[in-house]
Amino acid sequence: MMKKVYIRTFGCQMNAHDSERVKDLLLNDGYCLSDEPEDADVLLFNTCSVRKNAEDRVFGVVNSLKRLRKKDPDVIFGIMGCMAEAHGRSIFERMGHVDFLCGPADLDKIPEIIEKIKKGQRGVVYCMDSRLRGNDKIPLFPEDRKIGKRVYVKIMEGCDNFCSYCVVPYVRGGERSRPSREILSEIKQLVDKEVKKITLLGQNVNSYGKGLKEDISFPELLRKIDITVKSNLVKSNQVRSGRLEIDFMTSHPKDASVDLFEAIAGLKSLSKQLHLPLQSGSNKILKRMNRGYTLEKYSKLVKDFRRIVKKGTITSDFIVGFPGETKKDFNDTLNTVKEIRFSGAYIFKYSSRPFTKASKFKDDVLTEEKERRHGLLLETQREISRNY
Ligand code: 5AD
Ligand code: SF4
Repeated sequence: MMKKVYIRTFGCQMNAHDSERVKDLLLNDGYCLSDEPEDADVLLFNTCSVRKNAEDRVFGVVNSLKRLRKKDPDVIFGIMGCMAEAHGRSIFERMGHVDFLCGPADLDKIPEIIEKIKKGQRGVVYCMDSRLRGNDKIPLFPEDRKIGKRVYVKIMEGCDNFCSYCVVPYVRGGERSRPSREILSEIKQLVDKEVKKITLLGQNVNSYGKGLKEDISFPELLRKIDITVKSNLVKSNQVRSGRLEIDFMTSHPKDASVDLFEAIAGLKSLSKQLHLPLQSGSNKILKRMNRGYTLEKYSKLVKDFRRIVKKGTITSDFIVGFPGETKKDFNDTLNTVKEIRFSGAYIFKYSSRPFTKASKFKDDVLTEEKERRHGLLLETQREISRNY
């Protein structure tokens, strides 16, 4: 009988993409997918550590499935992704039925790990140790992968920015870019498969190219992608059957440039929507967050973007209740949101994360006050989004 695997994904698009990759590996290894945990022989959880409530959900869900192990002692439980890196072996103490941990950089090893467990090993750990951070390679998709109409293409991974609140550089390691020819060949395959939307993924797409042998910037990559899309649409006779749209995430304002906006404006395949997280409208808080820009620099970027990209829209992320955020700092954020008028924004309550610099700051905004600020900013943004 065919073995069944159940994969549940928490967190961001990068995790969604990583889960696709693991599904593909396991399908090639003779597994089939199961939608129900109760039916599966292997249960995998691709996890997120960016906020504590995301982690609490994983602990809740995985613990609630412990009964499946009691029913069948051969069922395998694996924790993949950021929580495996952030917590390491302590996960086994909190969830005794978990058999293995696998960090984001080792996902290509999952079939091998499952084999080890079937042979009787338990408590297997594949995570980056600090020596290896940043040196691991990005696993590739096989050519015959199954795809939907919207597809993610990883162009880089990891982050060197160390925003003071963010756990990502510690769990996903330093920035690594994929060579452009690999990306272009993946895009060419996807055009041939008639996908309608491609999202280029990276924690910090604007620093694409850093560390590569070739000398290439993110806007240059976009230009090459646009040419590849155009010529393959023509070759495969799809020009009249509708447009293929490319977008990307996430952009860091520190590295966004007029060159990028000109690429967005000038390239037909590119979406005119830009996600450019501001995080706070207070310069004092931006500095404490180690974001590397001021509100004035960000506002200038918005002005340039709107001048260059006609009908372009900007969305953002905000964190409220960051340590040391006073009512005045929060009001600066509120006023900035009203002034800039984003077409949409995600608003998060600050959550202290292990390893980060901000975890050493006093988390001094009370929960109720974080909730009040969150509700107020959310309502303000919703009103603006409705008017868009
Ligand atoms: N607390 C709250 N929000 C966070 N984000 C990242 N780290 C934290 C944290 N510790 C938010 C940021 C980022 C988005 C993906 O998640 O706004 O842009
Ligand atoms: Fe985290 Fe900042 Fe890197 Fe984004 S740019 S992943 S917020 S450290």
